[in-house]
Amino acid sequence: MEFTSKRYEFRNKDADYASLAEELGGLLAGEPDFIANAANTSALLYDALPDINWVGFYFLRATSPRELVVGPFQGKPACVRIPLGKGVCGTAAASRKTLVVPDVHAFPGHIACDAASQSEIVVPLLQGERLLGVLDVDSPSLSRFDDADQRGLERLAAIFVNASSGFS
Ligand code: SME
Repeated sequence: MEFTSKRYEFRNKDADYASLAEELGGLLAGEPDFIANAANTSALLYDALPDINWVGFYFLRATSPRELVVGPFQGKPACVRIPLGKGVCGTAAASRKTLVVPDVHAFPGHIACDAASQSEIVVPLLQGERLLGVLDVDSPSLSRFDDADQRGLERLAAIFVNASSGFS
């Protein structure tokens, strides 16, 4: 398979996220393996989204207490385990709500993996009522993510969850 990802300028974020959603749907079509799909989703997003330095997945594990464990990603090596309720990822996961953080240094308990990160968005991955993990995107710019990014990334996260199965 040859995959040429389209370049986006993100001047019209809603329109570009809609195209990206179509691309992602095509990329994941017919493939249920969640690790393969998480790897390809993070590669597509890292290539397509401007002004980001990290994008990837943390999956919820049935440890005691429950933790998020890093999954496929693009960017610098990251911290592996994040307890539920800790950091931006653990807070978004515990509340099951997308968290947009304009300045990570102002977020109490933020976990710094890449010192370049200034702002961050974390989208919980939900399959019905079940929390599977989170999609995390970091930027080296302050206030990089807005409502349109939230809408767009929530849609992409849903495409990933719906295409994939066998979460463990
Ligand atoms: N900053 C995140 C940790 C994950 S890294 O950004 C890749 C947090 O506070 O949960």
